Amino acid sequence: QGALPPGYKLRPLSSDDYERGFLKVLSVLTVIGDISKAKFLERYNYLKRHNHEYFTIVITDPSDTIVGVGTIFVERKFIRNTGLVGHIEDIAVDKNQQGKKLGLRVIQALKYIGAKTGCYKVILDCSEKNVPFYEKCGFTRKEVEMAWYT
Ligand code: ACO
Repeated sequence: QGALPPGYKLRPLSSDDYERGFLKVLSVLTVIGDISKAKFLERYNYLKRHNHEYFTIVITDPSDTIVGVGTIFVERKFIRNTGLVGHIEDIAVDKNQQGKKLGLRVIQALKYIGAKTGCYKVILDCSEKNVPFYEKCGFTRKEVEMAWYT
């Protein structure tokens, strides 16, 4: 599947990743808001209690700073004989670290988790400009995303 650059590591999100820049990396995606350590831990602990269905992974650089992140959520369905569907969410690579295949490595790891947990498919929503990236990661265009904001 290919390797990370020397000194880079891929692992599950940990409770002290707040200090390693987890939210800063996510901020390349969208507005993060003013999240305190307590609020981070509250969400982290929820995900940990649900660690059979939420898997958030990070990539760290040689200085142990987070440079890439991603999540897969495993949805339990009735259809497809009570099948499982993996939803890839919130993929981000630090601006200065893009183009080193870190995004690809995050997606490969999440696809592996999806397959190992028994998902019959893994899906995601993305902008038009990210389509070539996801095609390189083995995804194909399918149907249309729709949204409703409260
Ligand atoms: N257009 C064309 N090709 C691209 C693009 C692009 N916009 N982005 C990456 N690629 C190609 C690369 O050239 C590379 O191809 P190669 O194997 O032929 O060399 C391949 O895709 C893998 O690229 P990576 O180096 O792994 O990409 P990177 O580490 O830069 O991560 C990412 C890509 C995650 C999209 C990053 O640019 C990023 O964080 N962008 C801002 C946040 C964002 O848009 N995240 C995705 C939101 S969608 C979601 O979360 C489900």
